[in-house]
Amino acid sequence: MKRFISLLLILFLLSAMPLALGEEITYTGTVTGGTLNMRAEPSASAKVVISYKSGTEVEVLENDGTWCKVKKGNKTGYMMAQYLKIEANYPHIGWGKTKMRDSILNIRKSADEESPVAYKCLGGAVLELIADAGDYYKVRAENIFGYVKKDLITPVEGEFMPGLSFDRKDALSVSSLQSAPREVGSPLNRSKTEGDFTYSITYPDMDMPMADDGILYAIQWMLKTAETDYEANHVGEKASLTVEYQSLQVDEHHQSVLLLGEYQVAGLSPILFIRPLTINTQEQWTCDGADLFENPVNPDARLLFALESAVAPLMGTPTDGYTGKPDTGWIDKAMLTRNGITVFLHAGYYLPLGLGARAVELKYSQIAEYLNIESQLVSAHIRTIDPTKPMIALTFDDGPSEQTDRILNVLAQYGGKATFCVQGINVEKYADIVKRAVAEGHEIASHTWNHKKLTDLSDANVRSQLTRTSDIVREVTGGYEIRVLRPPYGSTNKRVRNICADLNLVIAHWQVDTLDWETRSSSKTYRAIIKGAKNGTIILCHDLYSSTASAIEKAVPELVAKGYQLVTVSELLSFHKDGAQPGTVYAYLDPENIDASK
Ligand code: NI
Repeated sequence: MKRFISLLLILFLLSAMPLALGEEITYTGTVTGGTLNMRAEPSASAKVVISYKSGTEVEVLENDGTWCKVKKGNKTGYMMAQYLKIEANYPHIGWGKTKMRDSILNIRKSADEESPVAYKCLGGAVLELIADAGDYYKVRAENIFGYVKKDLITPVEGEFMPGLSFDRKDALSVSSLQSAPREVGSPLNRSKTEGDFTYSITYPDMDMPMADDGILYAIQWMLKTAETDYEANHVGEKASLTVEYQSLQVDEHHQSVLLLGEYQVAGLSPILFIRPLTINTQEQWTCDGADLFENPVNPDARLLFALESAVAPLMGTPTDGYTGKPDTGWIDKAMLTRNGITVFLHAGYYLPLGLGARAVELKYSQIAEYLNIESQLVSAHIRTIDPTKPMIALTFDDGPSEQTDRILNVLAQYGGKATFCVQGINVEKYADIVKRAVAEGHEIASHTWNHKKLTDLSDANVRSQLTRTSDIVREVTGGYEIRVLRPPYGSTNKRVRNICADLNLVIAHWQVDTLDWETRSSSKTYRAIIKGAKNGTIILCHDLYSSTASAIEKAVPELVAKGYQLVTVSELLSFHKDGAQPGTVYAYLDPENIDASK
C-alpha cells in the first residue's frame, strides 16, 4: 500500500507544478497529433478562442492534469493536457554528485538548513544543478526543485538525465521482495513503534556466526541511519523503516542474501538501503560485491561494457546525451546468483534518479574472467586454450565495417576469437561493433589511423598514427588497451619497430594472405583459408567485403570441426616460449617455439 501512495504522490507532483519553488521555471507545451483548440474555459463545450496546428508551442501557465491554462502571443485560454507535450524550462549549470556516500542527503525547500525537506536521496546520487545560490546550489532531483549546501556536492563531468519521465514500476522496492525466494536461513523479525517512527525488520538467521554478524551489522546500520535522520529532521512526522530479505543457495558452497530497507517519511520519496552479501559456507566467510571481482578499483573495460549493456534497456529511448558514469562505486553492491552477478544500483547511482533503484544481472558468460570466485558456475565460462592442440589466428584488416557483425556472429556461434585490425578513423562510426568485439573477447589491433605506410612518415607522424588509434579505441570501449599493430602493407623498418617497442606494441604480420581484397570471391577466400590452415599460423583477411564474411561463415565451422582453436594474435603469442616482445614482428608462431606450460 505504501508504494501505491508514494506513486500517487509522484504522479501528483508531476502534474502539479512547483511554481512556488522558483519563478524562473517555465513550461512549454507542444501541440501533438493534429489541431488543438484553445478554449475560453476548461471545458470541452466552452467557446473556442483559436485553434493551433500540431507542433505549435504555447506557454503553459497552469496544469491540473486535465486542462492547461496556456498563453500564446496575446491569446490566453485552456487546452487539454493530454494533447500537449509539456517540458519544463529552467536554467542548467551542470551536474553534481552528492558526497557522504551511503548516508542520507536532504534537499531543502529553501536555502536554509532549518527549512523543511523537499526530497531525500542517498549520498552518491547525481543531481542536476540549476542555479548557484550562495552557499547552496539550487538543484533538481526528478521533478523536485530544492537546495543543497555546496559543500555536500562535487560537480561531475558528463551529461546525465534528469529522469522526469521514466517508468518506475520495475524499480527495486521492499514490496518487490515479498514474493522473492527465501531458500536459506530462518526468518526473524524485530518490530517497534516509537512515537511516530515505526520499524519492522525481517532478516534471516543463517546459523553461521560470520554471516549472522554481517547481517546484524547491516540492519543495525539501516536502523541507526534512519533514526538519526528522523530525529534530526522529521520529529513529529510519520515515518517508517521496513526491512525484508531474499536468500539463495547459489552452488554447493555459496549462498547469497539481499537485505532491502525502505525508509519512508510521509510525503517524501522513500530511501532504499541495499545490502547484498555473498557467503562461502565451506570457508565461513562473507563478502560484498567488491570482493567478487578481480580488480574492483580499476575494472576491466569488458566488465564495464557488460554493465553498460545491462542497464541500456532500462533507459528506454532517451539515451542520447547520457554519457556520464559517476564512478565504479556500484561494484560493492553486488552478489552471486546462479546465472551471474546481480548488481544493485541505488537511485541516482549510474542511472537517472527517476528510474529509482535497480537490479541488473551480469551473466557469467560475459564476466567470468573478471571474477574472483571459485565456483563451477564461473569456471565453466572461463576460456581455456590448450596449446598442445592446434591454434589459428584469423585477422581482419581495414575495418570495422557493416560486414564485421556477420563475422562476429559466426565466431560467437562457434566459440572462436579473432583479431580486428582497425583503422582509427573508422572507430567512432562503428563504435558499437568495436564494443561488441571487445565484449565478446576478440582482440582489437591497430591498423594505424588512416592506413598510412608508416615507413614513409616522420617519427612524430608514426607516433601520432598509433597513439590516435589507441586513444579512440580506449575511449569508445571505456579502457581497452591495444597491444598489437598490423602495419599497412606490412611495411616496417628499424625506426618503426623502435617506436612500437616504446609504445608497447607487438607487430603482427601474416603467413597466409587470402587476397580477399583482390579476388572478392567467397569461394577463393574460403579455399585460401582452408589450404593455409595449420598450427600457429596467422591468416590475413579484410572485414570489408560481403564475400569475405561469406567465406568466414563457411570456414569457421570447418576449422572448428577439424580441431583448430581460433585464437587472437595476443592469445597465440602468449604461448611463445620467449613471450611476445613489443617492437618485434611475428607472422606466425612456430610450433617449435610453443611453451605448453604457459
Ligand atoms: Ni590494410
